[in-house]
Amino acid sequence: MSIAKMMKSEFNDKDHSLSGIGGVETGGDAAEFILLGANTVQVCTGVMMHGYGLVKKLCEELKDFMKKHNFKSIEDFRGVSLEYFTTHTDLVRRQQEAIRERKAIKKGLQSDKEWTGDGFVKETESMVSN
Ligand SMILES: Cc1cc2nc3c(=O)[nH]c(=O)nc-3n(C[C@H](O)[C@H](O)[C@H](O)COP(=O)(O)O)c2cc1C
Repeated sequence: MSIAKMMKSEFNDKDHSLSGIGGVETGGDAAEFILLGANTVQVCTGVMMHGYGLVKKLCEELKDFMKKHNFKSIEDFRGVSLEYFTTHTDLVRRQQEAIRERKAIKKGLQSDKEWTGDGFVKETESMVSN
């Protein structure tokens, strides 16, 4: 993720290629690296354990992923997750902010005291964090 971001900002994502490697065994693993900006992925242990047939299966799974999301090419989804990637600390901060905002406009239950037990599903939904 860091290297993909640097390649975008410093090289305008041109002239260089980024390869994702480490723990790739399925089309889903490959898709995750590509979503984070990889142009290619590589496999070592997976092929040692399961043989070269693994690559064929990986390609089929990757194609299924692309079909499911209506991506026509690798470039259609390469790096699209970069803008959503963040740290756990940031997620907690954003969650607290959302809770504060919700309390400010008094949406949903504010405390256990407001719990009536009627409309169980609705009340539960109003208490979840996102
Ligand atoms: C038995 C074995 C030998 C490896 N030999 C090399 C090597 O000679 N040069 C290299 O750059 N990486 C080598 N690697 C590292 C792999 O290229 C790769 O970075 C690493 O295994 C992580 O990917 P994987 O999860 O698909 O195995 C080797 C890995 C294994 C398991």
